[in-house]
Amino acid sequence: MPAIEILGLTKDYAVGFWRKRMRRSLDNLSLEVNEGEIFGFLGPNGAGKTTCMKLLMGLIFPTAGTARILGRPIDDVAMHRDIGYLPEQPYFYDYLTARELLDYYARFSGFSAAERRARVTRVLERVGLASAADVQLRKFSKGMLQRAGIAQAIIHDPRIVFLDEPMSGLDPIGRREVRDIILDLKTQGRTVFFSTHILSDAEMLCDRVAVLHLGKLRGVGSPGKIVSVEVHAMEILFEPAEGHSLPPGLAQRAMPVGGRYRLELPEAALYSAFDEIRACNARILSVSPVRQTLEDYFLGLVERAPQATPPVEAGTR
Ligand SMILES: Nc1ncnc2c1ncn2[C@@H]1O[C@H](COP(=O)(O)OP(=O)(O)O)[C@@H](O)[C@H]1O
Ligand SMILES: [Mg+2]
Repeated sequence: MPAIEILGLTKDYAVGFWRKRMRRSLDNLSLEVNEGEIFGFLGPNGAGKTTCMKLLMGLIFPTAGTARILGRPIDDVAMHRDIGYLPEQPYFYDYLTARELLDYYARFSGFSAAERRARVTRVLERVGLASAADVQLRKFSKGMLQRAGIAQAIIHDPRIVFLDEPMSGLDPIGRREVRDIILDLKTQGRTVFFSTHILSDAEMLCDRVAVLHLGKLRGVGSPGKIVSVEVHAMEILFEPAEGHSLPPGLAQRAMPVGGRYRLELPEAALYSAFDEIRACNARILSVSPVRQTLEDYFLGLVERAPQATPPVEAGTR
């Protein structure tokens, strides 16, 4: 049984002053997420990611289509015991401490006072907030707040965790911390469905991703399959030998960066460039593929005709 089955989910919002016009924000989305998977839901701002999450959480209602979570319909209230949710912009009352906040959420699950105390302590530890347990949330950094939000989503040990943009607005350290929490959830056999517009996070974490653009599914598969299909070029970073300058042929093509040189070239030209670099005694520091970035990919999506269809795994459409 898949963890999440999305079947033709469609959402139109009424827009305009009189709310007479309808805008389709999610268009006939079908998708399956397997149990135990870390699944990334990717798309630029406005793609429809939050709309889809809210539909799955039963916070808004679909115009058409349906979805099942752990085999049960999304309007099944009992199913919510098995899922946790971090909204895109959670609001927590500032004057509560992290411990009080989590105790409050644990009450929803009907745990006894003793059980709540144990769970809150455990979850604070898991998200790295044990030492800040009794600090008021208004003194928390953005990263700490986000971790408190994740703690809230997992306090009842749900089988599936939905996280809407859990890394957005965080610095690299904060993002790393959130990534570690997500990986820890996977180790514990949980399913994680999270949305992001930052591909590097998705690449590092996800077993599979789905790419959404203007409400439509544009691709499903492993991150490598979706985004890095084409390596456009290779990049060599090298350092000239002490006191040596580069031969003009190389100097013309390489770009100086902080005492080193960066040379971008097609893969086929790689080996002759190695020879050139070796001939002038320069040292190669790294050779790496120039990866298509998410930005390139999204720009490509926007520019490409809508009828062009990138890879979608069999059985997901
Ligand atoms: N309550 C709403 N009423 C009208 N339009 C909405 C509403 N919520 C979202 N939208 C529109 O739906 C589209 C998708 O939004 P959203 O799901 O928030 O995208 P994402 O989370 O991928 O950035 C956007 O064009 C947005 O303006
Ligand atoms: Mg969103």
